[in-house]
Amino acid sequence: MKQRYGTALAVMLLSGTAASAVMAQSVTPTTPPDPPDFAAQGEPNFVNREEIFEYMALDSYSEPEWITTNFVETGKLPPVEERLPTAPLVYKAANMPDGTGAYGDVMRHVIGGRPEGWNYFAGNTQGWGGIDIGLYECLTRTGPVFQINPDDLEPLPNLATSWDWSEDGTQLTVHLIEGAKWSDGDPFDAEDVMFYWDNHVMDPQVTPLNGASPETFGAGTTLEQVDDYTVKFTFQTSHPEAVLYQMAYGTFCPGPSHILKPEHPEFSDNSYEDYRNAFPPDYMGFPVMGAWVPVEYRPDDIIVMRRNPYYWKVDENGNQLPYLDEMQYKLSTWADRDVQAVAGTGDFSNLEQAENYVEALRRSAEDDAPARLEFGPRIIGYSLYPNLSGNGWGQPDERAQAIRDLNRNLDFRKAITTAIDRQRLGNSLVKGPFTAIYPGGLYSGTSYYDQDSTVYYPYDLATAKEYLKAAGLEDTDGDGFVNHPADVLDGQNVQMTLLATNDYQTDKNLAEGVVAMLEELGIRVALNTLSGNDRDATRDSGRYDWMVMRNPTELITVVQRTDQLAPVGPRTSFNHRANDAGEMDLLPFEQEMVDLINQFIASDDGNERKEIMKNYQKVRTENLYGIGLTQYPGALIINKRFSNIPPGTPIFMYNWAEDSIIRERVYVASDAQKDYELHPQTLPPAPGGDGPVQ
Ligand code: GLA
Ligand code: CA
Repeated sequence: MKQRYGTALAVMLLSGTAASAVMAQSVTPTTPPDPPDFAAQGEPNFVNREEIFEYMALDSYSEPEWITTNFVETGKLPPVEERLPTAPLVYKAANMPDGTGAYGDVMRHVIGGRPEGWNYFAGNTQGWGGIDIGLYECLTRTGPVFQINPDDLEPLPNLATSWDWSEDGTQLTVHLIEGAKWSDGDPFDAEDVMFYWDNHVMDPQVTPLNGASPETFGAGTTLEQVDDYTVKFTFQTSHPEAVLYQMAYGTFCPGPSHILKPEHPEFSDNSYEDYRNAFPPDYMGFPVMGAWVPVEYRPDDIIVMRRNPYYWKVDENGNQLPYLDEMQYKLSTWADRDVQAVAGTGDFSNLEQAENYVEALRRSAEDDAPARLEFGPRIIGYSLYPNLSGNGWGQPDERAQAIRDLNRNLDFRKAITTAIDRQRLGNSLVKGPFTAIYPGGLYSGTSYYDQDSTVYYPYDLATAKEYLKAAGLEDTDGDGFVNHPADVLDGQNVQMTLLATNDYQTDKNLAEGVVAMLEELGIRVALNTLSGNDRDATRDSGRYDWMVMRNPTELITVVQRTDQLAPVGPRTSFNHRANDAGEMDLLPFEQEMVDLINQFIASDDGNERKEIMKNYQKVRTENLYGIGLTQYPGALIINKRFSNIPPGTPIFMYNWAEDSIIRERVYVASDAQKDYELHPQTLPPAPGGDGPVQ
């Protein structure tokens, strides 16, 4: 394997030189070059959905012995069979890579984000890195779908155990798991689902963390409760299958209504801001449907979670899951996540910052390496996004408004994209066959990608300058930087800001590279790097000119969070939202994108969907909705002591690897267990309680 990598590297370095040769005359748009070969290292064992689990009652159930002794026999908890639903979700041993497991041990995550609180439903982040994915279970589940046979491709049931379409396809009846409980013992039922829908998705003053909005589920879609365990969608179109994906992680993960409702502005005197902040990070025991519950929080240090005694999934032998008793999230940096996972002081990383690849590869190739590392497809992509609002989103001042006007000018966007030397940018992150030229839009190598529908503006500084001129910008005072026309801002130099997060080295490096390249073009750019949470807040309130950002994940499969692919609603897009009056000022090409995405969401015809996406890609890349920078593969790093890690798990396909590896099913064999638990033999407190209880 080392050999293959070495050979590919040499080939790449040779072709890289040719591709970046400077051309003398004006360069015209074309299709992107083929990316350098870089084969994913693992292949999934493809299965049908029903091979992974089913819902059924077993004859008997068990749990870690210390729970029976210390909690059940002392009357602190009901017996395990009373804590489980009537028919729990039962993972089949045949589909477990290493079979049924043993209880104990911890997965030590390291993350670069910081928690704002537990109210995911009103927009709080928990710091990413798999925290929210593990806490809030959703109606369907997509992470593990990377291993589903193509002809059985559909999200997995989860809190929704099954669903049926009405004959005309305009209604979807969803059956919820019966008798499952939140981690504090309160019943989970349709009330939780309706509260999430009515008071979060449909409430314009609330934006759940991953942006679920009415548009997510198709314009005009309604949801009603049928009985305690049944809800029913009604659609404006027939068979919008995409809704099954929107019922998964990110957009349909209901919260505990018994805890949230009393704080929601509709049922209290709270403001929306009060509601969002009602469950700060030090609120312990927040009720979840996930396998672990927060029990300890030390700012800038760690979040610890202990097993959920009401978790509703079991193995074939009736052992209540999860196998791992504890989850830790050390609050550090994302780069440290790579370092610690490779060194063995952390257990897991999505290797995604290309700067760390060579060192991580070197260390994990050694025989005594504590962790294994496996590269997947090229699904990490970065783009440069213009703020496309011309009517006041983010209250631009005069300078910023002049930039918005330029941003809405295609010649200006063409100038910028043509000034970006993608080969040089990619190589500045990591040399070798990793990075590929990325024009923007869907990634090459993903299922809806079509090379012929992808418009690529090759790097050429002279051409870029011609485009600038066409946009009305010239260096009138000879200081090397282009000026506005005389009637705009008194003909001053064009001054742009570039927003980026400083949570990731890659974001910073790419942003600096872009600043340097735009300077060569004659545009002065001021970098504004912020922490992830501040970047998000600045971005979502529209207070930026341009930004460099790791692409949102909907560009990978496009069937998930599809609404985010165009400004279909007033608040769905990252780079074009409504002004304070709720008005959108879409450019004609954006309107085309919106129409295509709405058609895609409404369509259930595979061929038609392919055609729509080709069109979408063409409109998006030709008009430079976002300007692609680079795309490259990620690698999953996981400590060797863990069992049941599915082969060929990509760091992202339908969801992040933290979901795809099915953590509740992951275990450490008894003879490999370490003593890493910080709170052994304890369980989560009641909601708002002090810490782990014995
Ligand atoms: C962050 C990390 C990703 C992944 C996600 C999970 O974005 O960079 O690798 O862990 O969190 O939400
Ligand atoms: Ca000037």
